[in-house]
Amino acid sequence: MAEKGNPSVYRYVAALVGALLGVTNVVRADNPIIQTIYTADPAPYVWNNTLWLFADHDENGSMTYNMKDWRLFSSTDMVNWRDWGVVMSLKTFSWAKADAWAGQVVARNGKFYYYVPMTRNGASYGIGVGVSDSITGPYKDALGKPLVANGAIDPTVWIDDDGQAYLYWGNPNLYWIKLNNDMVSYSGSINNAQMSSFQGNFAEGPWFYKRNSTYYLVYAGHCCPEDIRYSTATGPTGPWTYRGQVMATQGASFTNHPGLIDYKGGSYFFYHNGALPGGSGYTRSIAVEKFSYGSDGSIPNMKMTTAGAPQIEPLDPYARVEAETIAFSSGLSTEASNDGGLHVTSVNNGDYIKIGGVDFGAAPGAASVSLRVAAASGGGKIELRLGSLTGSLVATCAVDATGGATTWKTVLCPLSGSATGQHDLFFKFVGSGNQNLFNLNWWQFNKNGTAAAK
Ligand SMILES: *[C@@H]1O[C@H](CO)[C@@H](O)[C@H](O)[C@H]1NC(C)=O
Ligand SMILES: *[C@@H]1O[C@H](CO)[C@@H](O)[C@H](O)[C@H]1NC(C)=O
Ligand SMILES: *[C@@H]1O[C@H](CO)[C@@H](O)[C@H](O)[C@H]1NC(C)=O
Repeated sequence: MAEKGNPSVYRYVAALVGALLGVTNVVRADNPIIQTIYTADPAPYVWNNTLWLFADHDENGSMTYNMKDWRLFSSTDMVNWRDWGVVMSLKTFSWAKADAWAGQVVARNGKFYYYVPMTRNGASYGIGVGVSDSITGPYKDALGKPLVANGAIDPTVWIDDDGQAYLYWGNPNLYWIKLNNDMVSYSGSINNAQMSSFQGNFAEGPWFYKRNSTYYLVYAGHCCPEDIRYSTATGPTGPWTYRGQVMATQGASFTNHPGLIDYKGGSYFFYHNGALPGGSGYTRSIAVEKFSYGSDGSIPNMKMTTAGAPQIEPLDPYARVEAETIAFSSGLSTEASNDGGLHVTSVNNGDYIKIGGVDFGAAPGAASVSLRVAAASGGGKIELRLGSLTGSLVATCAVDATGGATTWKTVLCPLSGSATGQHDLFFKFVGSGNQNLFNLNWWQFNKNGTAAAK
């Protein structure tokens, strides 16, 4: 709605109406949820009270599938996503040639198993297994060869209540095996699922799980462009009953891929589209919607939105926050840091980071912010703004040359304006020239003027 007349009167009336209706401004995820790279084929996983999002990665500018590594992101509020970078790549698998495609991770016996398809040197697709002691990797090749071959892609894994693990996969047919307790071998033969029950032409991208004694097989159907459909069963191997469409064909990508998960009492549907600038069927981006299952276990039909899922809980700015924790951003990228974790780079004039739903607390609120920065030369400034890119300016922080792009310094920047209560926080980067202004590794607000511990 366009604001007409006196904006402050309009805002006052809107706030009053909101208060009367008991409505507050809900902070939402801002789809697509990752903007620093193109991501596809979401594989969410809940572990240690955190939602981990595994993704494959379309190289920027791709006109066909050009995919070399697998990426990890995490969130505890569904709005702000922390980047963990590359956790596994084609180089992890000596037998791999190309096509780092859709995979999924599951934990067992204190280890994490990452099932992923790749093309092989001199052969068709096979599914390999990466294994790691840490969910954030690095993952190593568990087998030195594919677990299943002969064109196998799009693995999905689930450990049933009785401890039996199942691996499903397939395009255009759907197969399954029973994994052994070691998760890297299987017993029995490769089984072909009953395709006739998959109304809507099962295409690929199965997502298999159990919820409240019902087994779900959500998948991309009707290639191409694809939509998302699902079937359910009372047992882990079917027979499957078609239940309906989850998401119609929509957006600029001709493929789609489901990832469904329950987290902190809510149910979430991850998918991908081509909605980021420069997006297409080969430069895709992951997005997420919140939904509720019907009392009969049904999944509603959902539309792609730019709003995304609501925030679960506000972000605490008085704890150290990695700069690569982002609700939305423009023009930036991330890279592995010699200062720990990743840092934000490719910082140019006008680029920004939005952090959703930051709670500065009651007055007097924040007094200063500590910024962990490195600048080769020149440097620049960071404007901290509340609510929007043009919202209330609470600080202008100078970032001067530190002696090198990997020479880190913690800069203390006093706030010039008031930061109390809950707001979206914007880091707006200001400077000149075409080179990277500086790198930003982490930030932390302080309630008094003293610097955060290094
Ligand atoms: C892709 O590359 C263009 C041109 O360098 C850049 O402007 C854009 O931010 C990049 N997008 C992503 C998602 O990497
Ligand atoms: C689990 O999460 C907590 C809180 O974020 C963190 O401090 C801890 O290191 C995590 N545990 C492991 C094993 O990663
Ligand atoms: C269904 O499963 C969810 C997630 O495991 C759980 O929170 C919920 O209580 C279950 N509902 C019923 C009726 O069992």
